[in-house]
Amino acid sequence: MKKNILILWLLFFSVQAYCQKNNVAGLLIPEPVSVSAGSGNFTLNAQTSIHVGSTDASAKWVAQFLSKKITGATGFQAPVVNSINKISSNNINLLLIKDASIGDEGYKLNVTTSGISISANKPAGLFYGVQSLFQLMPKEIEGSQVVKNVKWNIPVCSITDYPRFGWRGLMFDVSRHFFTKDDVKEFIDQMVKYKYNLLHLHLTDDEGWRIEIKGLPRLTEVGAWNVKKVGYFGTFSPPGPNDPRDYGGFYTQDDIKEIVKYAQDRFVNILPEIDVPGHSLAAVVSYPELSCTPGADKYHVRSGEPIMDWSHGQPPIAMLDNTLCPANEKVYEFLDKVMTQVAQLFPFEYIHVGGDECPKNFWEKSDAIKALMQKEGLKNMDEVQSYFEKRLEKIVESKGKKFMGWDEILQGGLAPSAAVMSWRGMKGGIEAAKMKHDVVMSPTDFAYLDYMQGDRVIEPNVYATLRLNKAYQFEPVPDGVDAKYIKGGQANLWTEQIYNMRHMEYMLWPRAMAISEAVWSPKSKRDWKSFSSRVEKQFPRFDAAQIKYAPSMYDPIFSVSQTDDKQLKIKLSTEIDGLDIYYSFDNSFPDNFYPKYTSPLIPPKDAVMLKVITYRGKEPIGRMISMPINMLKKRLDKNYTEDDMD
Ligand code: ACM
Repeated sequence: MKKNILILWLLFFSVQAYCQKNNVAGLLIPEPVSVSAGSGNFTLNAQTSIHVGSTDASAKWVAQFLSKKITGATGFQAPVVNSINKISSNNINLLLIKDASIGDEGYKLNVTTSGISISANKPAGLFYGVQSLFQLMPKEIEGSQVVKNVKWNIPVCSITDYPRFGWRGLMFDVSRHFFTKDDVKEFIDQMVKYKYNLLHLHLTDDEGWRIEIKGLPRLTEVGAWNVKKVGYFGTFSPPGPNDPRDYGGFYTQDDIKEIVKYAQDRFVNILPEIDVPGHSLAAVVSYPELSCTPGADKYHVRSGEPIMDWSHGQPPIAMLDNTLCPANEKVYEFLDKVMTQVAQLFPFEYIHVGGDECPKNFWEKSDAIKALMQKEGLKNMDEVQSYFEKRLEKIVESKGKKFMGWDEILQGGLAPSAAVMSWRGMKGGIEAAKMKHDVVMSPTDFAYLDYMQGDRVIEPNVYATLRLNKAYQFEPVPDGVDAKYIKGGQANLWTEQIYNMRHMEYMLWPRAMAISEAVWSPKSKRDWKSFSSRVEKQFPRFDAAQIKYAPSMYDPIFSVSQTDDKQLKIKLSTEIDGLDIYYSFDNSFPDNFYPKYTSPLIPPKDAVMLKVITYRGKEPIGRMISMPINMLKKRLDKNYTEDDMD
């Protein structure tokens, strides 16, 4: 009798387990439009095949892409067959269909216990369906080696998904530090996992010109090289005359073609940026005649030494003239040559011409600029820049491309059909959209991934902070703006303080996941709790892929105030729920046997250091942080912000 009851119980629990709905929505970033979870799994095995019901080369490429990844991790052959099979026959079917409801990049993914189908209007949709499918597979799919003893289960579900915006961008600054062609390909591989479709390459700046332009050899012979320095970029000592200028590099035109093709295969457009008239020291050093300022021939490509005074706000005061001269016809001939070749190399419809942070103090001293102002009736330096932008817009359009710039191009009058990338907050974008110009939102407040992700006491120092939960609040369409002018959103990864790919990854992830959800998922579905839990599910996948990410969301946040009797009071909090904070004031390393933080702390009189660490249950999860009490005292100054250097 007892035995029978036991069997009944076991039966009951196994049926219940079988019928339990899979947690599919909890696995995916960006969150899909709709997910209907089933129960049970499809299990990949050595007989699983991939069927592609189209002769479209790009659809076949997606099938091969899927097959390669499966083979690489499982060791199964996963052959690609050019036909459609029944979903019930242990296969993954990729189908091109006609379904207006999912648009050009949407897909429908259907997983049953006996097979899988991904259908889409265009190969891009198949590609995004495949990316979702990978996220449903065990984390070992992300590795580069065959892993044995994995049950390759994929939860039964049905997903309908399409993006909110057509412009889902990431900017990679390859000028401040050069990143190789293979690095750029790796960047593309990582971004497409989260359904980004636009790579903005910041190709030129004061620290390096990174693209070969035929007929202008000095741009890459001279302009691509500086002196390697490490430390805190922006404060470096000026290089000596004999220091080797061998740090940097550039892409040949063949390299660019290869990168463009690599991106195209993965449904990524590349937006090239040639940043002028400011940020142009590398060009000026290569061809000093492009400057308004005598003596520019003595300049060098910047190696991170100070060249701007930012203490007066925007625009900065330049200590040397890093601008192209709007009053010099040779500048427009130069730009014509550059834009001709850039337009030929990059098939994307836009060219980005920068326009940001252009100092005007050397223009103010220039007789040529004064003469130009008189001739053209220009009243101030903003109008001088606007004159430059309008001429450049004509050049860009004469090459069959659309013109885009940072929001400074609004000052002094916007060129007639310019698109604006709004970075100094959303206001430039709002203004441009109200003038019926196209806009991409990439505000510093939410989308600057070069900023620190946590407290500067532990993060590599940069001048500002953007935590994951703030990045997650990014909303590309502000109230009162006609959404049709907002093409989408973008996160920017400037690399002044990023010297290598590992640190690039640390800065990109997990914040680029937050931005991916802002530009892909329905606004109504955004939810920090759900997102942060899904981010945690992605981390083991990053480990399997050997891609670095920042664990900063696990570290505590310090805030300070004063008691009535002027003692320092320290409040600790965390970005995500469910963490305990343990602390010490005695310089030893706290663990979960130390006092647990429950209410604001007043440091003992002679304490010099507050050490803290977060735990989840019995497991340490944050990093050990040593915070000097004096540093916290400095933060009591009401003029101090989290962004100030300590
Ligand atoms: C910018 O961050 N200067 C566009």
